[in-house]
Amino acid sequence: MDRMEVMRARHSVRSFTDRQVVPAAAQALRDALDEANREQGLHMQLILDEPSAFSGPLAHYGKFHNVKNYIALVGPKNAQRSIGCGGEQAVLLAQSLGLNTCWVAMTYRRGKVPCTVETGEKLHCVVALGYGTTQGVSHPVKPIEQLCRVDGAMPEWFRRGMEAAQLAPTAMNQQKFLFTLEGTDTVRAKALAGPYTQIDLGIAMCHFALGAGAEGWRWAD
Ligand SMILES: Cc1cc2nc3c(=O)[nH]c(=O)nc-3n(C[C@H](O)[C@H](O)[C@H](O)COP(=O)(O)O)c2cc1C
Repeated sequence: MDRMEVMRARHSVRSFTDRQVVPAAAQALRDALDEANREQGLHMQLILDEPSAFSGPLAHYGKFHNVKNYIALVGPKNAQRSIGCGGEQAVLLAQSLGLNTCWVAMTYRRGKVPCTVETGEKLHCVVALGYGTTQGVSHPVKPIEQLCRVDGAMPEWFRRGMEAAQLAPTAMNQQKFLFTLEGTDTVRAKALAGPYTQIDLGIAMCHFALGAGAEGWRWAD
């Protein structure tokens, strides 16, 4: 599957089978998290076979079932965008390894997560993962025109970036982000007001960069 196909195939899944994460997939995820932690100054941790964070009434209310594995998205307190980007890279890797995922900021027991949090860091949220009882379903998304501003004709690379950003998961599916093309090659990404919109923006920026490709454009300062 190419990257767009992985993004199209990913949907939030909240119910998982008993199957354990196969060792090769767990190792691939750990390696990717280690690399992202080094590069982006994060402290994300894979936690396997730990059911208590998703065993209480909050998880039940959130319709989570049989969640035993998750990534604890730990990082500096103000690193929401990096957490969004680093977490989503892990989500897309998990999807390509045949796993299903769901970002979770609210409907879990934060105090039960056995992760290491150093001074100056916090547990921003988690990504539940495992083999889903289903592959999830598509949710309605806003048209690209509502998610970006471009003067004149939209360049093809920018359209591909926006098609990828449109598929990014956001808290409560709010999609409160805006990408603006400045000049011919500079992209300004902005989070709008709302809960978790900085993390959402990091996720959307990760998707945009994958869709637009590495060459011929840059982020605004
Ligand atoms: C930062 C963030 C936090 C989220 N928190 C929760 C949560 O607490 N509980 C939940 O059930 N889903 C949560 N979600 C999942 C979103 O509801 C879901 O991604 C969105 O509805 C879009 O659906 P999709 O992921 O299937 O495309 C969260 C998603 C993100 C990006």
